[in-house]
Amino acid sequence: MTRLIVFALGVLFCSGLNAEEVTLADGVYSQTQVSKGEQIYKNHCLTCHNKKYFGPVLKAWDGQTLDVFFMTMATTMPEANPGMLYDDEYSDVLAYILSLNRYPAGDDPLTADTTRLSSIRISR
Ligand code: HEC
Repeated sequence: MTRLIVFALGVLFCSGLNAEEVTLADGVYSQTQVSKGEQIYKNHCLTCHNKKYFGPVLKAWDGQTLDVFFMTMATTMPEANPGMLYDDEYSDVLAYILSLNRYPAGDDPLTADTTRLSSIRISR
């Protein structure tokens, strides 16, 4: 009986640790936020970055977690006025960028929640 409890606790603990680790291939944004993101991108990013810009950028970030990428983007872009957008506007733009690079959409929208973002690994 004691052994069973220890086993059950072990399973709980381990699944708790690994529960949320996902990659970009797992559908981390929703299709509905993509059109909002596209509009924001056209207004604030397209003058400097064409649609092909982000492919190599994401490759360079391969293996890192999305929170760092998000923070970099949100604190340095757009270049003339960093941080001017709302957090959810940055996450919509990021969703659009991911869709451009053929990562699949999923059920839930991408948000600016750093805990969630830090559990998403950038993958090819
Ligand atoms: C006025 C021009 C300009 C605008 C507007 C602009 N950027 Fe940039 N962006 C740059 C420059 C310059 C760099 C650095 C280029 C490089 O190092 O290759 C850059 C780099 C980036 C990077 C790569 C960061 C890295 O460290 O790998 C991302 C992602 C990015 N921009 C996203 C955006 C987004 C999203 C927007 C719109 C919200 C935006 N940028 C608007 C000029 C701009």
